[in-house]
Amino acid sequence: MSAPPGSTRVPRHLAVIMDGNGRWAERRRRPRLIGHRAGARAVNLCIDFCLQRGIQALTLFAFSSENWGRPEDEVGGLMKLFLNALEREVDELDRRGVRLRFIGEGERFQADIRSRMHEAEQRTRANHALHLTIAASYGGRQDIAHAARAVAREVAAGRVRPDDIDEAMIGQYMALADLPPPDLFIRTGGDQRISNFLLWQLAYTELWFTEVLWPELDADTLQRAIEDFGGRERRFGLTSAQVRGADETSTARSVETTATAAPPRAPLPERTDP
Ligand code: FPP
Repeated sequence: MSAPPGSTRVPRHLAVIMDGNGRWAERRRRPRLIGHRAGARAVNLCIDFCLQRGIQALTLFAFSSENWGRPEDEVGGLMKLFLNALEREVDELDRRGVRLRFIGEGERFQADIRSRMHEAEQRTRANHALHLTIAASYGGRQDIAHAARAVAREVAAGRVRPDDIDEAMIGQYMALADLPPPDLFIRTGGDQRISNFLLWQLAYTELWFTEVLWPELDADTLQRAIEDFGGRERRFGLTSAQVRGADETSTARSVETTATAAPPRAPLPERTDP
């Protein structure tokens, strides 16, 4: 579907690396944890933006598998921040129709955080206004290894033959398998890398980077990213002539589905924002 003139094509699924909390604090000569606290406020701004603009899925990289290696006081402070956020924000998220889920090695978190995560998932499971996924103790390679183990178990049990293993099958075992893959990836903080985020799921995602530090995020920055996304031609390996053809949407979609191959998908139609 082409966006009508004067409108912006809005991504169905936005994935974000929220980088720059530490530098934001250090520039103010404050402890890094103050930056993470300011980062939590920017999370709310980003959720508000998605709800207002009809973005249907938001996946945030809150804590990577590698972040466990940070200084003990920073990790401990982040854990307190996550627990506080879960205690404080879930009612409001639920009221606004947000479905909250977590991906990553949840078992590495302490028991009180794990149980709050579980409660939040159960409580918001029927919501549909926004699918909010928090990647916590997550790594893209870990995600792929997890899927490989799951498929290997099927083979060992005699339910799957090795020759039948394809992208679609592996995709079913990856995190976010029930969502369309991210259309747009945003990384704040100036670095231009994926940092072991959704390695499988980002195969055909449009990437957008900004120098803005995460705690400084504002609606204008997000709007710039959306407008840039709206102007891009997504070819999914096809030619420009093919995707500009009369059946642009169906062609591009079918290639996208083949390229990422993780059915079943939640039906999230692409929207345009007037
Ligand atoms: C990366 O910035 C950020 C993190 C490792 C933590 C992200 C956490 C938040 C945004 C706060 C709370 C989140 C939720 C979901 C409640 P960095 O510390 O690596 O920044 P730097 O590159 O400037 O050091």
